[in-house]
Amino acid sequence: MKKNSWLFGGLAVLILGLGLIIGYGFKPSVPATSAVVKSIPNGALDPAVWGKYYPDQYASYLTNSEMTQGNSKYGGSAKFDRLERDPMLKILFGGYGFGIDYTKPRGHSFSIEDVLETTRKKPSASCWTCKGPQVPGLIAEMGDSYYTASFDSLKDKMTYSISCADCHDPETMALTITRPALIDGLKALGKDPESLTRQEMRSAVCGQCHVSYYFEPETNKVVFPWENGLKVEQMLKHENDEKFSDWIMPNTKTPMAKIRHPEYEMFSSSVHAANGVSCADCHMPYVKEGQSKISSHHWESPLNSISQSCQTCHKQSEEFLKDQVVDRQDKVFATQMLAEKAIVSAIEVLTKATNDPKADQKLLDEARQLHRDANYRWDFVASENSTGFHNPTEALRVLGEAIDLGHQAAQKATQAMNAVQ
Ligand code: HEC
Ligand code: HEC
Ligand code: HEC
Ligand code: HEC
Repeated sequence: MKKNSWLFGGLAVLILGLGLIIGYGFKPSVPATSAVVKSIPNGALDPAVWGKYYPDQYASYLTNSEMTQGNSKYGGSAKFDRLERDPMLKILFGGYGFGIDYTKPRGHSFSIEDVLETTRKKPSASCWTCKGPQVPGLIAEMGDSYYTASFDSLKDKMTYSISCADCHDPETMALTITRPALIDGLKALGKDPESLTRQEMRSAVCGQCHVSYYFEPETNKVVFPWENGLKVEQMLKHENDEKFSDWIMPNTKTPMAKIRHPEYEMFSSSVHAANGVSCADCHMPYVKEGQSKISSHHWESPLNSISQSCQTCHKQSEEFLKDQVVDRQDKVFATQMLAEKAIVSAIEVLTKATNDPKADQKLLDEARQLHRDANYRWDFVASENSTGFHNPTEALRVLGEAIDLGHQAAQKATQAMNAVQ
């Protein structure tokens, strides 16, 4: 009898333990911030001022000006010319600035320098929106006229690249959303920007800038096309419904829409996001700086910090984990090239059909729509900066559709030329 009750007790403990493990699942552990909160004198935008109060985070932050390829195969912090690596881009972005000047992003320290350097057209001050901590103040001060002001007119105000005040409330040091476009975007998704959990905020601060957007015609306001959802076809539906286009491709006359760095959207439907992992878990892991443990403020490829970024959850070796990343990237990149070939072929046929005065205009317009839809999907993967890692299955699904739509566009354009008048 005694033996049995012992066994029963043991089993109960075991079941309780298992329940706890299953219930707890893969909830990432986020230690509460240990630092005593020190308010920053109101209005301070200069990171050096914040650095006096938080020297360890500031020391980490200053490393963002390093420019190394590191362990990265496709990413890394060195600036390189995407058009040189992949000349098909010149055709895919034909007639648009991205086909002439398109470099790989680098560290946050360079945000101002790089936007000044690009030869791409900067239609208005809206281009400053994700470049530094002055912007929220300017929007508050100028209202909607911020978005229509000329890019050059605000140049002298933009003295700091991305900095503390972009993500932190100076009084409480809590994470905060400073960009109106994200607040509007979250509302469009039916989410209350005021009631995000701490873990959600650890991604939302990045989602202020690492998202796709467009400038609303007339107002030039920055808009995230999220009202139908964050999937690429939902974003495209919004832009199609709005009949929005960034440029008309000269040789095919297709009204084109450009995707921009959709890290937040791509990541949102990933296995990591489903398990509650945030951008900061991988890109701002806990590191030792001076005497204390802090969140790394060096935003770079996590392949340079696999032990801190991944091994907190994954127990495999660094080598194994790196191979898993590169394996997914190789497959996505190879499929991305297939999509590019399909769309480039479609552009060739469409160009011919556009130059053919006898081509059926209705079929030709249908072919252009297919071209636009294919390109938007391919671009969702190509301009996302993880080369598919953030969500490999989604990246491959979207590229598969881009290939199919590219072929359909070519077929339709051929039909347009062959149609009996
Ligand atoms: C599970 C870990 C993980 C999470 C979570 C994660 N990333 Fe990444 N991220 C990576 C890896 C791995 C790469 C690929 C790095 C490379 O190619 O060297 C990457 C690449 C990037 C890059 C390009 C870096 C470079 O070196 O070019 C950016 C920008 C980025 N991520 C932003 C984000 C944002 C924003 C989020 C949240 C919406 C996020 N990441 C969530 C692991 C993660
Ligand atoms: C205010 C806008 C803004 C915010 C907020 C922001 N980023 Fe960035 N990020 C940028 C810009 C702009 C660049 C490219 C800078 C350049 O190339 O000059 C960039 C580049 C990067 C890179 C590439 C760095 C490299 O060395 O290749 C990573 C990684 C990254 N960001 C991660 C993050 C993460 C993670 C967050 C959230 C914790 C975040 N960013 C928040 C605007 C932002
Ligand atoms: C791109 C967004 C971003 C920028 C810019 C940024 N931080 Fe942070 N910071 C974060 C995130 C995310 C955390 C983690 C907060 C959490 O887990 O609740 C954090 C945490 C902190 C903490 C809490 C302690 C810790 O290390 O986790 C301090 C203090 C801090 N940051 C100071 C700074 C200072 C000083 C600067 C400027 C030099 C700065 N941050 C710039 C996003 C940012
Ligand atoms: C906070 C915890 C956490 C962190 C940090 C984390 N992962 Fe994961 N990872 C997970 C969970 C949970 C899964 C899903 C496991 C499952 O469903 O069986 C996963 C799945 C994966 C997968 C398979 C799914 C896929 O998308 O292909 C890979 C590969 C992976 N992680 C690599 C990494 C790498 C590389 C890093 C660091 C850059 C990293 N993870 C960081 C928790 C994490």
